[in-house]
Amino acid sequence: MNGLPAMLILGALFVAGCRQDMEDQPRYDPLEASNQFADGMSARTPVEGTVAHDADLSPPPTVLPYPVTIELLRRGQQRFEIFCSPCHGRTGDGHGIIVERGFPAPPSYHQDVLRKASNQHFYDVITNGYGAMYSYAARVPPPDRWAIVAYIRALQFSRAAPVAALPQSLRARLEAEAKP
Ligand code: HEC
Repeated sequence: MNGLPAMLILGALFVAGCRQDMEDQPRYDPLEASNQFADGMSARTPVEGTVAHDADLSPPPTVLPYPVTIELLRRGQQRFEIFCSPCHGRTGDGHGIIVERGFPAPPSYHQDVLRKASNQHFYDVITNGYGAMYSYAARVPPPDRWAIVAYIRALQFSRAAPVAALPQSLRARLEAEAKP
């Protein structure tokens, strides 16, 4: 008569025991302390030279790896206005809103030395930072870096385009506006 309740109680104890074992596994919870390591932390940083299993190990391209299309420039403009214009200004003259609040002023893209700088130089500055400017590698993935470089070239061209390179409609407008 007592057989069934006794079995249920036994069963419940057995299941509870199981659960306890699972809870006491020899593992660390995130950020738990540990006396295994000199710094007392169980969270370890990857050893130097660690490579993510899905990392792209092909050497990075040194020239613009895409054809310059209007889509590429639009993407570059959008990314530039998000990530770069706060300091470099929307035209690249170095008068962004953050600079007006006291951040060191970046050089204008429209000076000769940056007009002559290679695409690779701009790409490297985005990747590694430059002097007071920090790296954008974590926020701007490689394809967007190239799109930004292409857009900066367009900005530079917009300030230094020879009249002969303009389409006829723009040339006519320029001539009309230049007349006193
Ligand atoms: C927080 C402000 C800030 C932002 C945002 C910023 N920069 Fe800069 N950038 C600077 C400053 C300041 C310098 C000058 C650094 C120096 O000379 O120490 C600079 C310098 C540069 C230079 C000139 C390097 C040279 O050869 O003189 C380039 C090119 C450049 N930035 C590109 C970019 C691009 C592209 C972005 C967006 C992905 C960007 N920057 C975002 C502040 C910024």
